[in-house]
Amino acid sequence: MRLIIAVDGPAAAGKGTLAKSLAASLRLPHLDTGLLYRAVARQMILAGLDPSVDDGERTAQALQPADLLRDDLRVPDIDRGASSVATQPPVRAALLKRQREFATESGAVIDGRDIGTVVFPDADLKFFVTASAGVRALRRYQQLHGASARDEAALSALTAEIEARDRKDAERPVSPLRQADDAVLVETDSMDAGAVLAHALAIVRERF
Ligand code: C5P
Repeated sequence: MRLIIAVDGPAAAGKGTLAKSLAASLRLPHLDTGLLYRAVARQMILAGLDPSVDDGERTAQALQPADLLRDDLRVPDIDRGASSVATQPPVRAALLKRQREFATESGAVIDGRDIGTVVFPDADLKFFVTASAGVRALRRYQQLHGASARDEAALSALTAEIEARDRKDAERPVSPLRQADDAVLVETDSMDAGAVLAHALAIVRERF
C-alpha cells in the first residue's frame, strides 16, 4: 500500500519510536525529519557559524547533502541549534523539497513537527503524538542515563530545556508545531511504546 502517514508532536513524545515501528510493520520507508534540521545545525557549528543567527547566505552553505546516520546528532548543542535553524524560511524551503521527494514515490511514514500541516497536508493518515513535559523529560533522561538513574536537578533542567524547545517550535511564524485539524491525537503519558504502536496499527487497519 502506498500510504503517506504523518507523525507529528513535541520533543521526546515518542513520535520517532512510533514512526519507526509503524514503518517496519507496514513495510514503508521511514524518514525522521528532525535529523535533517539536526544535520544542518551540525554543519553550521562545524563551520564555526552560529545556528541562531538567521543569515540566508551562510545557512545556504550548510545545506549540503548531509550524513543523517551519525550518532552525534542528538546532543544538547544540536538540540538547540536544530530548533534555531528550523525557524529560518530558506532552510525550511530547501528541506521541504527533500521531504516531499522522499515520500512521493513509494509512500512513507514521516515524523516531525509540520508533516501533517505543511509537508503533506493531504497525508492519508496523521497522528499527533504528545505527553506531558515531565513524562517526556523522564523518558529522554532514562534514554541517556539508564532506567534506574534519577537525579532530580538534572531532570528538572531537562524538563525546562524541553519546554523551551516546544515553545520555540510552537511560537515560530514559519511552520509552527501544531496539531492538524484532521490528525488523530495520541496521548502517551500512560502508554508504553508497544501500546502506542498497537493503537496506531488498529487505526491504520480500520481505515485502509
Ligand atoms: O524531532 P527532533 O527533536 O529531532 O527535531 C529537532 C528540531 O528540528 C526540533 O526542535 C524542531 O525545531 C525542528 N524540526 C522542525 N520540523 C520538523 C522536524 C524537526 O522544525 N519537521
